[in-house]
Amino acid sequence: MLVEKQLALQPYNTFGIAAKAQELVRVRGLEDVQAVLADPVLRSRPKFVLGGGSNLVLTGDVKPLVLKVEVAGRHLASETDRHWIVEVGAGENWHDLVAWSLAQGWPGLENMALIPGSVGASPVQNIGAYGVELQDRFDSLDAIDLQTGQVFTLNAAQCAFGYRDSVFKHAPPLESSGEGVRGMGLAGRALILRVRFALPKRWKPVLGYADLERRMAQEGLSAAEVTPERLFHWVCEIRRAKLPDPAVLGNAGSFFKNPTVSPEQCADIIARDPKVVHYPMPDGGIKLAAGWLIDACGWKGKSVGRAGVYEKQALVLVNRGGPNDPVTGGEVMTLARAIQTSVYERFGLRLEPEPVVL
Ligand code: EPU
Repeated sequence: MLVEKQLALQPYNTFGIAAKAQELVRVRGLEDVQAVLADPVLRSRPKFVLGGGSNLVLTGDVKPLVLKVEVAGRHLASETDRHWIVEVGAGENWHDLVAWSLAQGWPGLENMALIPGSVGASPVQNIGAYGVELQDRFDSLDAIDLQTGQVFTLNAAQCAFGYRDSVFKHAPPLESSGEGVRGMGLAGRALILRVRFALPKRWKPVLGYADLERRMAQEGLSAAEVTPERLFHWVCEIRRAKLPDPAVLGNAGSFFKNPTVSPEQCADIIARDPKVVHYPMPDGGIKLAAGWLIDACGWKGKSVGRAGVYEKQALVLVNRGGPNDPVTGGEVMTLARAIQTSVYERFGLRLEPEPVVL
């Protein structure tokens, strides 16, 4: 097992923040984690699991042992009457998986094209875009318990998916309940090795989203004429038009979650700001577009130090520093807090950041 010391993490986080990992081990398979857990010193060290680094703000050098997930491999594991079950290593790139699965004739992930990051991070965050969330295409995953070394499998219910949320984002209870790793918070406790996706054989396009409906109308197509490839192409075009490419301008995607309010709170906000973008949810709550709220507070295009608010989408914070003079995590968080204060003062709502802040 190779332990890399003082490793620069700038290439490994999409914000492009310069920070170092004091120690880093690359995980290409179960054996690498087992070697860490067998090491008398490393086994007890706090650990941080790094995927594609696309949802991460580094506010300093990383002291916990970094386990960088590089588990590779993609194949058809099985099939049922209704689904292709595709198994993918956690270290595979998410967008490459979307493109590859389409090319194999297994559609279903196309609405989530171009989401930055790795396959292993996709269930943690329950990534989603244009009306499809990871949980809609999820079968199961294999992970390893970083305390016991036990490998376990979780189905969708056990992952407790929510909006940009899962069991992997919640802290374990302080005392072990004695029921093993299942059914409790797994933040910092589990490393995802492989994810299995259930891709529908009777595919139907998920349209509904205003941007996609507009494209369909522009091209004069009916839903029946929309192919997975066309939908993939539209999603890529829409995202490229309004979201910055992290390879060009560092960012971590949407920086805040879209907040949910009660119908009464929403009515209050509409009375003051009739244009507020809002979507009714199946559970009776109302989701507000955080990008709109931030935009309404005048933040679009603004900067604090080298941290900026993207000109075309106020929900995305960007790195305006150069490669040799990148934004710091501190600057990003100062800007984030200033935005939270503005939105709270104007709308009485607390925006919750999406990325992990380390
Ligand atoms: N809006 C503004 N000004 C802005 C930004 C947005 O007025 O500066 C308005 C838009 O015009 C639109 C509404 O707000 O009416 C919503 O904007 P958009 O359609 O761009 O979607 P979003 O709610 O900002 C969410 C996800 C994205 C996902 C898109 C498409 C969250 C936090 N973000 O963004 O996910 O790609 O929908 O499904 O749920 C991510 O999580 O990192 C991410 C990029």
